Amino acid sequence: MSEEDGHTDGGIEARLDEQDVFEPPASFVEQANVTDEGIYEEFEENWPDAWERAAELIEWEEPWDRILDDSNEPFYEWFVDGKLNASYNCVDRHLDERAEEVAIEWVGEPGESRTYTYEELHREVTEFAAALYELGVGEDDVVAMYMPMIPELPIAMLACARIGAPHAVVFAGFSPDALADRMNAGDSSYLVTCDGYYRRGDPLNHIEKARSGVEKVDQDVTSVVVDRLGDERAVDLGPDEHDYDTLVQEQAGATVEPVTRDAEDMLFLMYTSGTTGEPKGVKHTTGGYLAYAAWTSHAVLDLKPEDTYWCSADIGWITGHSYIVYGPLALGTTTLMYEGTPDYPDNDRFWEICDEYDVDVFYTAPTAIRAFMKWGPEYPAAHDLSSLRLLGSVGEPINPRAWLWYYEHIGGEECPIVDTWWQTETGGMMITTLPGINDMKPGSAGPPLPGIGADVVDPSGDPVGADRAGHLVVNRPWPGMLRTLYRNDERFLEEYWREYSKSERDQWVYFPEDGAKIDADGYITVLGRVDDVINVSGHRLGTMEIESAIVGVPGVAEAAVVGGDHELKGEAVYVYLITEDGQEETDAFRDEIVAAVDEGIGPIARPEEVIFTPELPKTRSGKIMRRLLEDIASGKELGDTSTLRNPEIVGEIAEQIGGADE
Ligand code: WT7
Repeated sequence: MSEEDGHTDGGIEARLDEQDVFEPPASFVEQANVTDEGIYEEFEENWPDAWERAAELIEWEEPWDRILDDSNEPFYEWFVDGKLNASYNCVDRHLDERAEEVAIEWVGEPGESRTYTYEELHREVTEFAAALYELGVGEDDVVAMYMPMIPELPIAMLACARIGAPHAVVFAGFSPDALADRMNAGDSSYLVTCDGYYRRGDPLNHIEKARSGVEKVDQDVTSVVVDRLGDERAVDLGPDEHDYDTLVQEQAGATVEPVTRDAEDMLFLMYTSGTTGEPKGVKHTTGGYLAYAAWTSHAVLDLKPEDTYWCSADIGWITGHSYIVYGPLALGTTTLMYEGTPDYPDNDRFWEICDEYDVDVFYTAPTAIRAFMKWGPEYPAAHDLSSLRLLGSVGEPINPRAWLWYYEHIGGEECPIVDTWWQTETGGMMITTLPGINDMKPGSAGPPLPGIGADVVDPSGDPVGADRAGHLVVNRPWPGMLRTLYRNDERFLEEYWREYSKSERDQWVYFPEDGAKIDADGYITVLGRVDDVINVSGHRLGTMEIESAIVGVPGVAEAAVVGGDHELKGEAVYVYLITEDGQEETDAFRDEIVAAVDEGIGPIARPEEVIFTPELPKTRSGKIMRRLLEDIASGKELGDTSTLRNPEIVGEIAEQIGGADE
């Protein structure tokens, strides 16, 4: 970064006033994986057959008979009768040419690192697969994982894939209760976890959380425990707990042939939040998902086998599944994993890692970018970031100022940025520019990918036209799509398909529950969720789940949880609380509420503010006016409140928040 490049905030605004379209740098385009604009047309003319392009990036034991079976809409099937194994594709397939190349580059928070070549990855995945067999895990048994960012997590996932046992990874930051809920829902009798991990220098006790979760699981659970902390924390294992290292050593040199899986066999479950309190078990399958993860990694992230690629997400979320593990490894790339946070030991940790490992492609979330902006450009400027070729963003809308800061201070104006819209349910990226083809418009994700049908519609399902806000819909199936919600086809139909699949249109339309607008060039700007789901630092949280953790606290009569704007987190959790008669409205009681959320969901859902109120604003028909509560939390001007049954309450609440801010 040059000296005169120290753009101030004023500089950013001025530049955005001048320039709202950015061309991909020629140096990038010259080497990009996908550069032919004709690809959009090719997919249109040759749909769905063009999806072969995706499937051909991976290896099949037996080819598919049909690309798409849509005879039982919307329960689509892809690459029908194709046979493959995902672990084979991510590991064994690379042994001929890339055995000595690095598959996983792991950086621990305290500074140590570990490297797994494809050969080493193959060995450990095979040995752990043998250990899983030994423990009794069979094909189609769901294996839960509750682990932070340590290499044993992707190894365990790939070992499961090898033997055809779907994994269900639960984010390590979730509470024991949240783990137990998910293990019960998935009927998991196996758990892979660890003793602890490091956060900002301190060893955290994780096994205690895992154990108290397991206590609440209905079925008997066999656990495998990875020793991450060594001597820092000696753990005595119980009779149903097995030491990971011992298991792997016992299987030294074992061979386990990858199980032949049908394209439509389940690869994994991933729980995510929805409108009701109960988490949704999103089911992804082997063929379509893997082909889609590999294809988008190739076309959007531009990954090449010789790249070192870093996605800073956590593997406990879908981003990590698709773009730390399956996509990059299917392509034979080096994927980097970092255990810790960006501000430890100092605010330049990410740039130190990019510099040291010569990271080529970097994928992160707007919440991180906003933090980097706040810390200042001197942190990236202190490192050589010239190895970077492409930058990505995911998880929430990126505002143009953050986009431009990322472009200038991290990419040195030489890296395209892909702002990728997608969801747990979509399996992979759906709306984004192709970095070797499209111009970029800061703040807008871009057009739908080739072969993806997306539009913005009004409540009756008709397109709203250019530049008008409406609901985002996806009107054609795609290979990476979820197949159903685990053991709940009815909820799958209800949550995603009923809203816009009108029989008179004779078309099945998927509703992702986001608002959006589309411009005259077909670029889509995603505006955020339109359901009761909030996005805190790129983490998707259901307000109902949080509410149900709160209403269990004695003294609480009623609670409403909404998202309010937050400078760094995007959205933060606001709790409006009505206490029972006799319950004092004290700070100590607020702390109890916060503790209940920690326990029910985890610190990621911790409330920003708990606001006591004698009533909630309700319509005359008795519906809570959530939008109004959101506007109050965000400090926005409040619109018309005259339709409320109790308009006077609004002023009372707003006053309290104003007071709390001072
Ligand atoms: C929700 C999905 C995609 C993996 C991480 C989150 C929001 C995601 C973008 C983006 C605007 C975005 C949407 C979506 N979202 N990416 N580039 N621009 N919004 O997965 O937890 O399933 O959350 O994240 O609201 O519905 P998820």
